[in-house]
Order: sequence, then structure tokens, then C-alpha cells
Amino acid sequence: MNLPEWLQAEIGRVEDVLMERAGASPSALVAESSTHLIKAGGKRVRPALVLLSSRAGTPGLPQTDLAAAAIELVHLATLYHDDVIDESMTRRGVPTVHSKWGTDVAVLAGDYLFANGSTLGAEAGGEVPGILARAIAEVCEGQIVETSTVGDPNRSVDEYMATIGGKTAALFRAGCELGAATSGANDGARRALVAFGEHLGLAFQIVDDLLDVLGDPKLTGKVPGTDLREGVFTLPVLLACERDPSLRSMLASGERDIAAALPILTATGALEDTMAMAADHGAAAVAALDSLPEGDWLATMRSLADGVLAQIGAPA
Ligand code: IPE
Ligand code: IPE
Ligand code: MG
Ligand code: MG
Repeated sequence: MNLPEWLQAEIGRVEDVLMERAGASPSALVAESSTHLIKAGGKRVRPALVLLSSRAGTPGLPQTDLAAAAIELVHLATLYHDDVIDESMTRRGVPTVHSKWGTDVAVLAGDYLFANGSTLGAEAGGEVPGILARAIAEVCEGQIVETSTVGDPNRSVDEYMATIGGKTAALFRAGCELGAATSGANDGARRALVAFGEHLGLAFQIVDDLLDVLGDPKLTGKVPGTDLREGVFTLPVLLACERDPSLRSMLASGERDIAAALPILTATGALEDTMAMAADHGAAAVAALDSLPEGDWLATMRSLADGVLAQIGAPA
């Protein structure tokens, strides 16, 4: 992501809050495990959405910074738990928390981060705690429903879209809504920003799912092929299963090798159509911004959408 300097400076302020809150415990184990992934990096997309969206109202208010830090802590917490569920060994280019400190610490440190995110939300006040709590519930719903489809190659595309709407788009939507709410933006702007967040979140997860198939681990910081290995059949796989039943039988028999599946994903056009669906949501995100007053921040929001799609070589 190529963010303008003013936004990088604002994210820098949020970074300080993240480290301060996640690292506050006098216990070295708690402080180290809870700051492990903050120190490793990450794109900070969700706080960027809060800060950018606040430009629709009065930017620079303290509650906006608090909300931006809160949503990143909530996101971090979901990553701690997600890596336990997915048995992932690498995240942000470093060993995952459970692979370093064990599952018990990873689950509890995730809870600790959720709680610290909620504390920040309470300090921000107003609508922030409610928006955050609803988004957390939606993420959990999406993740729980996903676990019920694990290993099922008959999972439908509609079900996949509903799941990613919860597990991923909910936090993108909430990021935009938090920016609008904390800055006192008007209702029309708020609706437009929430629609942007929704479509960007959907595009983001579809791209992430493609990167699990095609991505370079040096760039993603994650081990590719994790979704297939764990039986999480995502859009490219589901489209290919609809078109070539031999893939469905292969997956149903328990063979979940990305190298064996890839030629089928390509030959059926599933990869291409998945890219097109990501691009459609990217375009819908950008279109949602049309009613907002032009400005540097809006151009940055459009370039965020472009950046998400550029990871798979697709134009927005
Ligand atoms: C990872 O999110 C989880 C998904 C929704 C795919 P990010 O790709 O935003 O992860 P970081 O924060 O940059 O590490
Ligand atoms: C996103 O799904 C999970 C969360 C909402 C945390 P993934 O399982 O695809 O995320 P990554 O690929 O591990 O980052
Ligand atoms: Mg995962
Ligand atoms: Mg993934």
C-alpha cells in the first residue's frame, strides 16, 4: 500500500496506542505474546479505513484515533484465533503465536486483545462500542458457519459469499462506519462509506483466497495452500468443482493437494472468474464513493481498492 504522508503520520499515532495497550502487562509473557504480531508488521488497512472515513466529517478528533486502534486490536485478536483454527505456522512473515507459545497462550492472548480493543472502544464512547461489538459478533458468526462447511466440496458460492461477508467484510464495514460516526459525518456519507467498506471487504477476502492459491509467501507472509489443506474450499475451488466433478471427487476423497488442483482451477476458468468477481466488488466499492465530495482522502480510498486488486494483477 502506498499511503500519503499525512495518513502514514496518523497511522503512526495509532501504532503508539497499539503497542502501549497491548504491551501494558507487567508479565513479560503477556506483553510479548500480545505484541508479537504488532511488531511483525501488517498492512493496518482497518485503521486506515477509520482515519480516511473520518475525513467525511471533522477529522483529527481523539475518539477517531481510539477507534482506529481499537479495530486493529480486534483484527489482531481474530488473527490469533484464526491461526489456531487453521493450524497456520507463519503470519506477517514470523512464526504464529500458538507455534511459539502454544495454543493456550494464543487463545488467551487473543481474548486479551479483544478486551483491550473493547476498552479503547469504551474510552472512545458514543457509538463506538456498539459498532465494534456488532462487528465482532458478525466475524464470529462467519467463522463458525465456515467451520460447519469444512471438507464439503458441495458448499455453495452463495454460502461462501455470506461467510466472507461476516468473517472479513464486517470489520471493513465497521472501520468505515467508525470513521463516519466518530467524525460526525452526515447519514448519506456514512451510508456511502459503509457500502464502500462492504464491497472492499468482499474483494479483499476473495483476493486473499486467490493468494492462498497463487501468492508468493515472501509477499503474503503466510504459507500458501493452507485453505485447501484445512478443507476450507474457497471461491476458485468451488467454481472449479461446479465445472469439473473430478475435482469434487478428489477433494471428497481427502486429496487436498494444491499442485494437483491448480491445473483444474486454470482449465475450468475458475481462477479467471474469481479474479473477475473480486474486480466487480472492487469496482462497486469505488462506485459507492461517487456521492462524496472530491478530495485527497477519496483518491486514497480509491487507490486502496486498486491496491487490493493489484495483488492479483487485476485492474480495479
Ligand atoms: C488477514 O487480514 C485476514 C483476512 C481477512 C484475509 P490482513 O490481510 O489485513 O492482515 P494484516 O493485518 O495485513 O496482517
Ligand atoms: C480470514 O480468513 C479469517 C479472519 C477473519 C481472521 P483466512 O483464514 O483466509 O485468513 P488468513 O489467510 O489466515 O489471513
Ligand atoms: Mg487463516
Ligand atoms: Mg486466507
